This record gives sequence, structure tokens and C-alpha cells, in this order.
Amino acid sequence: MAGLTAIVYGSTGLIGKELVSLLIQSEVYENIILPVRKVQQTFTSPKIREMVVNFDKLSEYKENLKADITFICLGTTMAKAKSKEAFYKVDFTYSAEAAKLACENGSSHILLVSSLGADTKSMVYYSKVKGEIEQFISGLSCEKVSIFRPSLLLGNRTEKRFGEALAIRFFRSFSFLFVGPLRMYKGIEGHDVAKAMVYQSLFPQASKREIFLSHQIQMIADKV
Ligand SMILES: NC(=O)c1ccc[n+]([C@@H]2O[C@H](COP(=O)([O-])OP(=O)(O)OC[C@H]3O[C@@H](n4cnc5c(N)ncnc54)[C@H](OP(=O)(O)O)[C@@H]3O)[C@@H](O)[C@H]2O)c1
Repeated sequence: MAGLTAIVYGSTGLIGKELVSLLIQSEVYENIILPVRKVQQTFTSPKIREMVVNFDKLSEYKENLKADITFICLGTTMAKAKSKEAFYKVDFTYSAEAAKLACENGSSHILLVSSLGADTKSMVYYSKVKGEIEQFISGLSCEKVSIFRPSLLLGNRTEKRFGEALAIRFFRSFSFLFVGPLRMYKGIEGHDVAKAMVYQSLFPQASKREIFLSHQIQMIADKV
């Protein structure tokens, strides 16, 4: 396996940026396509092809969105989106459209960042939408789908998220409490999620559909 093309949706985010850095370092990935909504030019590698797209009309760019492996780490927060509809548009509609195009374009493997607690029947809107996107992507005909359900993401954000910053301080200080059945709730570095995703893209298991809980993501990252 060499000369692969990857596409990363959400490449400007906490996990997305880490993913792109790792893909640039990988000898297996030769081309990395980054659909973004504004010019970024954060990465200078010749492997990178940044494409400014209108996410509401993603299918119009279909011909230029062909890749072997598709990473989807798009997402917003209710605080930023300001309405359920706007949140749904990013976390479900854009992610679903990206996955559908990947499938139609022959991507053999879609790797999605979802979240701890994703469940179509959840009373929590965030978790319900995460469950719905998982269900949608798992139902596509793509050869292989890997879903990653991290707990709270640790890492340095440029953007200020007050509640999240407090939670991160708590999770960092009391990480020793998260053992046994609680281990899946332990916070995880964005970098570790990205590491596990790249590893699974290079050394996929046989199963066509798989879900990694947060502690399983951590275990993969720790062994890489
Ligand atoms: N935060 C947590 O603790 C946590 C925990 C578990 C799971 N997750 C999930 O993990 C995934 C990745 O999280 P993250 O923290 O790495 O994400 P992030 O830093 O918030 O980045 C989100 C990405 O989505 C893009 N995006 C947001 N709104 C968009 C819009 N309207 N149109 C186009 N692109 C848009 C952003 O692009 P721009 O730069 O253009 O905005 C960015 O690339 C998300 O699905 C999140 O829900 C998060």
C-alpha cells in the first residue's frame, strides 16, 4: 500500500489539524485533499491540495474529491451554531454528504469522528445527531467504515470554549479516577485520536463496520 490519496474534512479543527500533520509525515500517503470553507494555507507540504468549497453544494466538487481514504472530523458546537438546525447542518448534513460522495467516488474506507454517547435514541440532541450520522454512514455501500467515539477532547484550541476549558482542567487533574468501567469517559488528546485514525487507515481490521470507544482509541494510540 503506497501512493494513497486521503481527503480530510474538518482539517482546520483540533483533530483534523493533527490528522493532516500525521498524514504529511506518512510515507504511504502521497496526496492529501483538504476541502475548507476559507483559504487556510496552514500546511506547506507538496502533498497538500487545499480546496475552498461551498459545503452547501459539495456535490458540485465531486470530480475533485476523489480519494482512497476519507477522514471526516467536521463538527460544531451548539454555542457556535446557535440553533439545532445549524448544528444539524454541520454535524449531520455536511458529514453525510461528504461520506456519500466518498462512497460514490470509490473511497474504500471512511473514518468518522463521532462522540462518546452517540445514540439515535438519546434524549440529548448532540448525542442523537451523532447517532444518526453514524447510522447513515454505516448504511452506505462503502467497503469499510470506522467510527471513533472519543470522550472529551483535550488539546490546545485557539478558540475559547469556557465550559470545555473547565471540563478539561477537571479531566486532566482527576484522570486517575477514570479506570475500570469508567475508562471510556477519560479525556483524550486530539493528537491521540488522530494517531489512532491514521493507524486504522493503514492497518485496517477485517470487519467492515467497527466502532472504537474512547479507551480503545487510547489503546491504539498508545501502541503506535
Ligand atoms: N470537543 C470535544 O470534546 C469532542 C468530544 C467528542 C467528540 N467530538 C467531535 O469530534 C469531532 C471533531 O472535533 P474537533 O474538536 O476536532 O472539531 P473542531 O476543532 O471544532 O473543528 C471542527 C471542524 O469542522 C469545521 N466546520 C465547523 N463548522 C463548519 C461549517 N459551518 N462549514 C464547514 N465546516 C465547518 C471547522 O472548520 P472551520 O475552521 O472553517 O470552522 C473545523 O474544521 C466533532 O464532530 C466533535 O463533535 C468533540
